[in-house]
Amino acid sequence: MIARHVRKLEAYVPGEQPRARGVVKLNTNENPYPPSPACAGVLKHFSLDLLRRYPDPSFCALRDALAKLNDADPDCVFIGNGSDEVLSIAARAFVEDDESIGSLDPSYSLYKTLAAIRDVKWIGAKNLSTRIAPKTSLFLLTNPNAPTGEFREPSEIAAFAKRFRGVLVVDEAYADFARANCMSLAVAPTNRNIIVMRTFSKSYSLAGLRVGYCVGPKNLIDAMYKVKDSYNVDAVAQAVALAAVKDQAWMRTNVAKVVRTRARFVTALEKRGWNVMPSESNFVFARPPARENAADLFAWLRSKNIFVRYFPGPKTGDRLRITIGTDGQMKALLNAIDDRFCE
Ligand SMILES: Cc1ncc(COP(=O)(O)O)c(C=O)c1O
Repeated sequence: MIARHVRKLEAYVPGEQPRARGVVKLNTNENPYPPSPACAGVLKHFSLDLLRRYPDPSFCALRDALAKLNDADPDCVFIGNGSDEVLSIAARAFVEDDESIGSLDPSYSLYKTLAAIRDVKWIGAKNLSTRIAPKTSLFLLTNPNAPTGEFREPSEIAAFAKRFRGVLVVDEAYADFARANCMSLAVAPTNRNIIVMRTFSKSYSLAGLRVGYCVGPKNLIDAMYKVKDSYNVDAVAQAVALAAVKDQAWMRTNVAKVVRTRARFVTALEKRGWNVMPSESNFVFARPPARENAADLFAWLRSKNIFVRYFPGPKTGDRLRITIGTDGQMKALLNAIDDRFCE
């Protein structure tokens, strides 16, 4: 009854969303600041008649605004129910049954699950100079990477795309927190295989809305439209995301606050003997001093209502991924760490 590959599938495990109040929640890279007040305005005045009807299947108003924002042709923009859906549509559109999906290892762990859902091989690469197996038709590259926070220069990514024969999706979920991005590669008329993907979940503070999008060559975007559900982005999401796009100043201000807090927090951790990987994201990937075990510390912090993320395994298990919250939240975490070491 259940397909063989689904029976053995290990489902993706998202970060915990605690119901309890008072949790210092630094585990899923949400933005600690609220979305643009323009979003609240849209919700307040949202017409029920728009809910009676189906939403625009081609999300034209939002697509046009995103095209304008990124200097792209509207026909080269695709929008999904979160960038997770964009990724799953890419896996549907660009991979044959006997091909494989590649990504860096470690990277966003959903990529491996997407390959398993498609019942194709997943290939983990150490870096972009690793030889990629010829049957890899889709490469999912997070930049800045997750969970490490590491940033790769667009020139390195462009060189990789030139060598790579398949479709390269550059997952720029965290690009607004970084010094540069690959959007100009995606909109270049000579581009044949680069799709750049963004989300409203991080810099725009709209993780609950579920909107992500991508920009790329028209023939690839057309293929994505072919395999999407008819009404994949609901009417409320389209309208609220549009309001957020139009308020770039609000998003930029919040991003700047997070970046400043990130710098202060990294200094504070390093003073306490932690090893912190250089991050251009809204999180850091940090190894506690030798006397402390990352898994134990994760569990202990959780018991104190401070949630961070722990990824077991040989490449990630000695570190914690900590979302950058407000200064107050980071202080609460640092105080807890200090208490622990005094215990
Ligand atoms: C690298 C990366 N890509 C995509 C996503 C998913 O984003 P969305 O909320 O748009 O589905 C995440 C979420 O944490 C992420 O870390």
